[in-house]
Amino acid sequence: VPLDDCNTFGLPATAARYQRIDDVGNLIALARAGALRGPRLVLGGGSNLVFTGDVDALVLHVALRGRERLTDVDDAWRVAAAGGEPWHDFVRWTLDQELPGLENLSLIPGTVGAAPIQNIGAYGLEMAERFESLDAVDLDTGDVRQFTAADCRFGYRDSVFKQAEAGRWLITRVIFRLPRPWPPLTGYADLQRHLAEQGIATPTARQISDAVIAVRQAKLPDPAVLGNAGSFFKNPIVSAPEAERLLAAHPGAPHYPQADGRIKLAAGWLIDQCGWKGRRLGPVGCHARQALVIVNHGGATGTDVKRLAEAVAADVQARFGIALEAEPSFV
Ligand code: EPU
Repeated sequence: VPLDDCNTFGLPATAARYQRIDDVGNLIALARAGALRGPRLVLGGGSNLVFTGDVDALVLHVALRGRERLTDVDDAWRVAAAGGEPWHDFVRWTLDQELPGLENLSLIPGTVGAAPIQNIGAYGLEMAERFESLDAVDLDTGDVRQFTAADCRFGYRDSVFKQAEAGRWLITRVIFRLPRPWPPLTGYADLQRHLAEQGIATPTARQISDAVIAVRQAKLPDPAVLGNAGSFFKNPIVSAPEAERLLAAHPGAPHYPQADGRIKLAAGWLIDQCGWKGRRLGPVGCHARQALVIVNHGGATGTDVKRLAEAVAADVQARFGIALEAEPSFV
């Protein structure tokens, strides 16, 4: 089964075996019967993947749909969505229901079920801050388990589903808690600038969503036009002395203090400084408006992507002594 249209990078690959999952009951029955054991890949929107060759495994394509409003509690509105729902459509649906809280995460590619795996985040908000629980099916046994936020061990672009529990679960449904009263988040520099330019002083949730969409469209390539998987590297989080060393030499380097005293640096800035913005290596390159995004200019393979990523990381290491870690999963 060809997977070229199932990954936003547009990389060529085929799956040895393929199973579409559109019903939780059938999923549980298949898992109980042992039909899903062995090498496998759970595929949502394919927006965080680099195929470096054909996939010699069972690909489970999550097509579970449905979204619903749940009973509110005193300090939150509650909503749920099935794992296969496209994330952005779900965010806009919550706004249609007059339920604010997810607007800063507008236009992120991928599915609801993939969102907790890497704890998607943008424009001052991480999904973990709006998460209540999720349901997942153990693909080896068919057992169903509910994970609380604590169970998920969320971190920056990280969760238990990328660590100890990687590959074991298929996330069927996620419940979100949207705090009331609504706390608008407009502090992120690009967002603040855009709202000011529009003359919007006290934005509605929908206006914040529209602003996030405009900012993303101005900087980030549309995967339908230029294949990509969003940010290719995580922003490195370094110790305070390490950040001071960098800032002494480069006072203009963007840096964001974390709650634990460490400092998050901007990988895009480091890559840009090394001259990679808009530069190509074969059929791939760093995006002209956001160096952190690797794009497929047409006909690239996963090997091309890997070669560019290694060249970029080597330059950043040599120039700044900082190691970059890839964000997407290599398959
Ligand atoms: N910068 C440059 N040159 C570049 C790119 C960035 O100088 O080529 C500078 C910017 O001027 C800014 C800083 O680096 O001072 C940070 O850039 P930006 O605001 O564009 O955000 P980012 O840190 O590069 C992160 C997320 C994005 C998310 C944005 C907005 C990661 C790995 N990436 O990017 O997430 O949309 O913040 O919140 O944390 C993704 O994960 O796929 C993704 C797109």
